[in-house]
Amino acid sequence: MMFVSPRRLRELGIVGMNQRNISLIGDLNPRHLYPLVDNKLKTKLLAAEKGLATPALIGALRTQHDVQGLEPFLEPHDGFAIKPAKGSGGKGILVIAARREEFFVKANGQELTIDEIRRHASNILSGLFSLGGAPDVAVIEELIKPHAAYKNLSVEGVPDIRVIVYRGFPIMSMMRLSTRESDGKANLHQGAIGVGLTISGGRPVNATQFNRRVVEHPDSGADLMSIQIADWPDLLEIAARSADATGLGYLGSDIVVDRRYGPLLLELNARPGLAIQLANNCGLAPRVRAIDDLSPACFRQGPKMRVDRAMSMFD
Ligand SMILES: Nc1ncnc2c1ncn2[C@@H]1O[C@H](COP(=O)(O)OP(=O)(O)O)[C@@H](O)[C@H]1O
Ligand SMILES: [Mg+2]
Repeated sequence: MMFVSPRRLRELGIVGMNQRNISLIGDLNPRHLYPLVDNKLKTKLLAAEKGLATPALIGALRTQHDVQGLEPFLEPHDGFAIKPAKGSGGKGILVIAARREEFFVKANGQELTIDEIRRHASNILSGLFSLGGAPDVAVIEELIKPHAAYKNLSVEGVPDIRVIVYRGFPIMSMMRLSTRESDGKANLHQGAIGVGLTISGGRPVNATQFNRRVVEHPDSGADLMSIQIADWPDLLEIAARSADATGLGYLGSDIVVDRRYGPLLLELNARPGLAIQLANNCGLAPRVRAIDDLSPACFRQGPKMRVDRAMSMFD
């Protein structure tokens, strides 16, 4: 573990757990809005209503009876992801990348039988992976096919772009790349790499894995500091619009870029983690203050104007 003194963290403007929980989440995110983002099915419906594109929903399993009837339902789909509606941190997400004869193949080549898929879905319904262990729904989503530009960066999985949006303005972002260790998922706790990206242009500034600095992808050797993100302002605009759609004052908006459909909103988080600061080697506190100092009129502007403003403020 890397150790940095609390004093040094303050100097860097790093926001800690307490500050996040009290001044960001507590003050800006009314509790009644949580269910919208803590449930991936609800988020999808909300996004559709607000005109934000998300990965296509294949279906949702609510009962053991649904689980038994799963096979014909999956028939038309070569690739899909099954996930707990109330999951987080990549827990309980099974990504199937292809079919081979009667098997379902994970990105690492592992073959699963339909019984194993059913067992997984059944575990999801019982709440094994969900917040508080409450019974849950299994969401089945079309497989995201990463854009060619990112294909060799992320090993055995889809990278996503996390954008922290504060009072409607994007203030920090990172790309998360899956690794062999993270099993096709781009979650930092699972071993994915976080590459801090400038708000001004989506250019890489620093990269970490398990909160330690890295410069190349451990599996592919790809140079993390030469990543280029296309259509950067559009991605930030999706993030800014997701803040408007939910009413959350502080949120993490996760976006993927699919090679067929372009940018899609993957999920929203009302309590985004703080490791993004390490990936950026920069704290959130000064950026939060800079937004708070804007004139009231700025907060009434539409998402595009707010993105332009943020891009001019944060490098
Ligand atoms: N439909 C999908 N196709 C391919 N990979 C996916 C899909 N859904 C999720 N993943 C992978 O799993 C990771 C976590 O998914 P996400 O929906 O964000 O759940 P969580 O709340 O657990 O982070 C994503 O970052 C991505 O790498
Ligand atoms: Mg996620």
